[in-house]
Amino acid sequence: MKIIMLGAPGAGKGTQAKMIAEKYSLPHISTGDIFRANIKNGTELGMEAKSYMDKGQLVPDELTVKILLDRVAKDDCKNGYVLDGFPRTIPQAKVLEDALNKTGEKIDYAINVDVPDENIIKRMSGRRACVNCGATYHIVNVPPKKEGICDKCGSELILRDDDKEETVKNRLTVYHDQTQPLIDFYSERKVLKNVDGTLDMMDVFKAITNILG
Ligand code: AP5
Ligand code: MG
Repeated sequence: MKIIMLGAPGAGKGTQAKMIAEKYSLPHISTGDIFRANIKNGTELGMEAKSYMDKGQLVPDELTVKILLDRVAKDDCKNGYVLDGFPRTIPQAKVLEDALNKTGEKIDYAINVDVPDENIIKRMSGRRACVNCGATYHIVNVPPKKEGICDKCGSELILRDDDKEETVKNRLTVYHDQTQPLIDFYSERKVLKNVDGTLDMMDVFKAITNILG
């Protein structure tokens, strides 16, 4: 099963993608996580990606597409995957579609986690992410057992550099300009499913598993 998660920054794509990946035994592939791992390791790719991410802009398609195509070619993807944060532009979606067409494959579901802009800013300022394992929390909605410490691995929780209010506003503008058109793109391909992302996260997950079966 090949699944794409669509939605604004902070809509809960990562939260849901991790749960889907676990339930259906699929790899969870987040381009944002791949970039952040490269930043942490000080790679050339990481340095280049950071210059865009810190401003809330998209990393150029040429860089992003190559990373994604390499990743989905790996062995663990042969039964499918959950893509979180890719595609984010129509050109990215077309490259993925062309690559899949070559082997007679296709995306099965594009799940759009729908959350209005007003809710997004509140969520982002409360988000905390683990520096080590990437697990995400929210200081009010999904608090860790011990403040500032990851439940899963005991490492420190931090506010992401791009979760500052001004940057979040830029990310929302970029989302509406460049990523929202993908809703029509996948709707035309009859794989789009909308879920209400303002619900409690377990209710969002229930709506998704009703769709995936
Ligand atoms: P990326 O890491 O993909 O960030 P994003 O799309 O902006 O999305 P987020 O990860 O911020 O939010 P999310 O939807 O995963 O929400 P989450 O589950 O964490 O990308 C970062 C940057 O990398 C981009 O800006 C760009 O520069 C670059 N990039 C990445 N991919 C790219 C690409 N393909 N092309 C070009 N550039 C690319 O939830 C958010 C918060 O809400 C959390 O605190 C969570 O606990 C809480 N929450 C979740 N669900 C609920 C709920 N139902 N109710 C209440 N709270 C909830
Ligand atoms: Mg995410």
